[in-house]
Amino acid sequence: MKILYENMPAITDEEIESALCFSKEQVVRNLPDFTDKFQKAYSEGNFYQPIENNYWTTGFWTGEIWLAYEYAKEKLDKDAGALQAAGEVQVESFLNRIDKKIEVDHHDMGFLYSPSCVAAYKLTGNQKAREAAIKAADQLITRYHPVGEFIQAWGPMDAPENYRLIIDCLLNLPLLYWASEETGDDKYRDIAEKHIHTAVKNVIREDYSTWHTFFFNMETGEPDHGATCQGYRDGSAWARGQAWGVYGCALAYKYTKDEKYIDLFRHVTQYFLEHLPKDMVPFWDLEFTDGDDQPRDSSSASIAACGMLEMAGAMEKEEAAVYEKYARQLMKSLYDSYAVKNPELSNGLVLHSTYSNHSPYNTCNHYGVDECNSWGDYFYMEALTRLHKDWILYW
Ligand code: GLY
Repeated sequence: MKILYENMPAITDEEIESALCFSKEQVVRNLPDFTDKFQKAYSEGNFYQPIENNYWTTGFWTGEIWLAYEYAKEKLDKDAGALQAAGEVQVESFLNRIDKKIEVDHHDMGFLYSPSCVAAYKLTGNQKAREAAIKAADQLITRYHPVGEFIQAWGPMDAPENYRLIIDCLLNLPLLYWASEETGDDKYRDIAEKHIHTAVKNVIREDYSTWHTFFFNMETGEPDHGATCQGYRDGSAWARGQAWGVYGCALAYKYTKDEKYIDLFRHVTQYFLEHLPKDMVPFWDLEFTDGDDQPRDSSSASIAACGMLEMAGAMEKEEAAVYEKYARQLMKSLYDSYAVKNPELSNGLVLHSTYSNHSPYNTCNHYGVDECNSWGDYFYMEALTRLHKDWILYW
């Protein structure tokens, strides 16, 4: 393995402590506006506005509440009670959402229900959270196509133009493993396993860059073609897609124990690392680097760090140390130059992320560019928590 960034500094334990402490306080400061409401997916002028629980991203904010709760509880901090109470209000909202089927006709049940309800159940034994998360798993498996063996990402299930999976979905699958574990019913796990196999086989290209989305033939299930939605162009590597790939391969190994996913993790991660700019925080597409007048996607750095820390936990000491060091370097750069330090300037945690950047060659709308976003903040806290202690993951 070629070692990169040897001279980049790594975040220290004291800096992790300070970053977690600030994050917890920032979450607590936000509770009055964001207990009955949720954070919008991205900030505007670095401030999030409140929204109803009706978008694919709302689970990240609840996940931040639970991570802050864990930290506060460990410190015997009086905020732990208020954080738990707010988390419980949000769990009720998630149960209501899945019962009433509010905006759940897509594959992001894992992003919604793992950091909110699975987390609540694991941390506090909340039964409503368990019920909501199992219902969300039931909803997710309705999107499975036996023809092609994958979970369809978006849109009506009977339309050929929607007959595709997207790399992000690898993070939705732990919900299915958890549901099988909880209910004793293998149907969730079987679908997750089939999807992982199909996804990884098709979204990872020969050079270990990744497709954002991949289409299948609706009649035969045969792989058809890759395409981007949020990347710069079809053949480029959307930074966050590659980061979902890093974390997705680590989780694929965790749940399947198939060693081929460790090797894929190594290669996908190496591609990600080799395409970072000098400060290790990617531009929104890995096609761009220092000197390009393009926005960053700081959320990709945190997501990749979480994936590296997850995989390191299953590796031999020497190799694990390599990935832990990369993760600490990514977090140091975020902490020094991207993290919010002054609550008057932002109610988020990490600046300079990109949600959806329209280019002449992609199909996405344009919003949340060079802003905080909810998953960027969540995964920043998750990576810090992983570095701080042995963390029982929400995924
Ligand atoms: N899962 C959508 C995104 O990463 O923007």
